[in-house]
This record gives sequence, C-alpha cells and structure tokens, in this order.
Amino acid sequence: MRHLSLRSRSFKGLFSSVPILGWRSRGGVATHSTVSSLPQHVPDVDDTLQKPTKKPTWKCFSYQEIYKATNSFHQDNLVGRGGYAEVYRGVLEDGQAIAVKRLRSAPEGEQREKEFLTELGTVGHVRHPNVSALLGCCIDRDLHLVFEFCSLGSVSSNLHDEKLPPMDWKHRHKIAVGTARGLHYLHKGCQRRIIHRDIKSSNILLTNNFEPQISDFGLAKWLPSNWSHRAVAPIEGTFGYLAPEYFMHGIVDEKTDVFAFGVFLLEIMSGRKPVDGSHMSLLSWAKPYLNDGAMLVDPRLGDNYDVAQLKRLTFVASLCVRATAKWRPSMTEVLDLIVDGEIMPDHWKMPDEEEEIDFWDFDDLDECDTPSSSSSSSSSSFSIGSSSTT
Ligand SMILES: Nc1ncnc2c1ncn2[C@@H]1O[C@H](COP(=O)(O)OP(=O)(O)O)[C@@H](O)[C@H]1O
Ligand SMILES: [Mg+2]
Repeated sequence: MRHLSLRSRSFKGLFSSVPILGWRSRGGVATHSTVSSLPQHVPDVDDTLQKPTKKPTWKCFSYQEIYKATNSFHQDNLVGRGGYAEVYRGVLEDGQAIAVKRLRSAPEGEQREKEFLTELGTVGHVRHPNVSALLGCCIDRDLHLVFEFCSLGSVSSNLHDEKLPPMDWKHRHKIAVGTARGLHYLHKGCQRRIIHRDIKSSNILLTNNFEPQISDFGLAKWLPSNWSHRAVAPIEGTFGYLAPEYFMHGIVDEKTDVFAFGVFLLEIMSGRKPVDGSHMSLLSWAKPYLNDGAMLVDPRLGDNYDVAQLKRLTFVASLCVRATAKWRPSMTEVLDLIVDGEIMPDHWKMPDEEEEIDFWDFDDLDECDTPSSSSSSSSSSFSIGSSSTT
C-alpha cells in the first residue's frame, strides 16, 4: 500500500467533485449543504445489545462559522491538545455546543492530511451513541473537523486530574460498558470492520451524563472482510496500550483494540496510568491481581464499589490483555461478559504451557529498540518505521 499523498489545494477538488469518497456534495465547500454518507449501516446478526443507529449526516462549515463559534479560536476555548491537533470549544448560532479539531501545522504536511482524511473517512461513516458524532468539517485556511462537544472532556482527565474528586464506581462501570458497546459496533456493526488502533483514556470522551464516546480516528484502519489482519508500518500508537503482535510485527486486527481495551479497563478500575514515571507499567503492576479484583480497585474508592461488577471487569480485563491474540475474546464476547454473560473461567482456560509464557509487558522490552517519540504533547505516543508492508 502506498502512503496517501495529497496536497492542500487538492482538498477543494476533493470536496467539490463527488466520487473520491463517495459522498454527495451539493455545491462544494463554500455552501452549507448537508452531506450524507452513502455506505449503509448493516446491522450485525448479534446486534441485540445495541441501540439503533441513525444514518450519519454531516456538512461543510464555512471558516467564518467556526471562527465565530470559537470566538476566533480564543485560547480560553482551547480544551485539548493531542499529537496532531488542537481542539477548541465553540457554540454555533443555533446554540449547539461544538468541538473544533484543528490539525496542527507539521513539518510533514502529507501526514497531517492523511490523518485528516483517515478520521473524516472513518468517523464520517459511522453513527452510534458511544462513538464521537461528527457534525462536519471545514477546509478553509486549515483542516478542521467539527464534533458534538463532550462537556466532561476525556476519561483520562477525569480519572487522573488530582484536583478532581475520584470518579465514582457507577461512572467507571458505565464507561466500561459504553466503550465496549462502541468498540463492538466498530468491529461488528459497520459495513466494513474498523480497527481504531489508538484506544486509550484520552481518546474516550464523556458527555454530561458520563456516556463514553470513542473519538480520535486519526489512526483507524478499515479491514476487508476476507482479510484476517493487515500488517502496517509505521507502527503508531501509545505505549502501555499496545498489543505485542502489533508492537513487534505491525499486525493489526480487532484483537489490537481488544488488548488496548483490556488495559483501559485496568486503568479505570485502578485509577493508575498505563505508563507513568515509576518505570513499572500498569500491566506489570496488575498482573498479580488479575485473579483478585479487590486489589486492583482504586484505593480512593474505599469499599464503594460493586463487587459483582468488579469481578466481571477484572475477568474481562485478564482475558483482553493476553499476549496471544487468539486467546483474547472478541468484542462480542467482551460485551456479553461485561453485561450479564456467564463467567466460566474453565471455558477460557489456556493450555498450561501457553499460560506459562502468556504475558506481555513493556518492562520486557529492555533489549528492544525503543521507538522514538513523535508527539510533542504525549511522551507515550509514538511512530516507528517508514515503509508500509500492507
Ligand atoms: N468532541 C470533543 N469534546 C470535548 N473535548 C474534545 C473533543 N474532541 C477532542 N477533545 C479534547 O481534545 C483532546 C485531543 O483530541 P484528539 O481528537 O484526541 O486529538 P489528537 O488526534 O491530536 O490526539 C482530547 O483528549 C479531549 O481532551
Ligand atoms: Mg487523541
């Protein structure tokens, strides 16, 4: 696969001419026409646990609209800064709260454009209560994506900001279930399988009633139904959440996200970061406690948690972080186990010899080359390799 190569000015052509992404355009960039995505949501056979989804629609915003909405991108409205973007809060004329994601200038413009198109081409085709809702984009002056605003920010900031009170158990559990539903939808409920590749607490946002929204599709990959996986390079993602087969061989499939989801579960139960300054990763720390959830619980919660729910989440996390992808559950199984499925440890038992070696952790990587950081804002985000092997 060749890397996508587009120049900025080609965006005008992209949005005013119909065919490239299969979108209908009524009048191109400058108008405010609504754009409907053509691919239809194909209900999963095992869709009973999901709420019905609407066909996604989004529109092209003018620069004036988003400039005004964000009070000329005022610093007071800056709500987030990730590896590739700055995100501003704004309010449209009709009163709707929005988040404007402006891709930051980078030395390598093409990478920026690639991220923009990847995110637009993915999130623009999906609609689910637990996936960040795209309202539109604006390609005047810079590259912008416009989303519904998530008033509580990311799970990461809610969990790790020491100035905030500890998040209560009820919300942690709701976040676990909602995120599982969103991921299940991406893997099984869309016309084509979507692998997110960067599931982590700063990419799960919260609405005002703590409904989680999977966001940041800049690294997402489509997977054709007849492919078991794809091999990608460069390997991009976030330390602490990376599945071994992806980190070492660039292999991407649904189990890449399942592994990251397992780490995310450990993070929300324990309140610990996947990697922090202590040189011990969350995975290493949690390993001895995967059979005994009580030891995993954030001590700030005291006894204020639901024991049965904790047991379920711990059991699911222990399966998701298995080093061998084939022994990890699918998101269908994860969702079933998290909600009300029967917990049967014997059913999930691995052969003894596999169990012996089945644990992966970044602390095991002392002898490996350490990938260089590519992100100014997050020391744990990285990108390695330069050629694609897809
Ligand atoms: N829809 C939104 N509502 C509220 N905050 C958001 C929204 N989208 C992003 N953010 C904030 O901006 C941060 C960075 O956004 P993200 O899409 O992850 O950018 P990047 O691709 O640079 O990582 C998020 O962690 C979050 O704090
Ligand atoms: Mg992000």
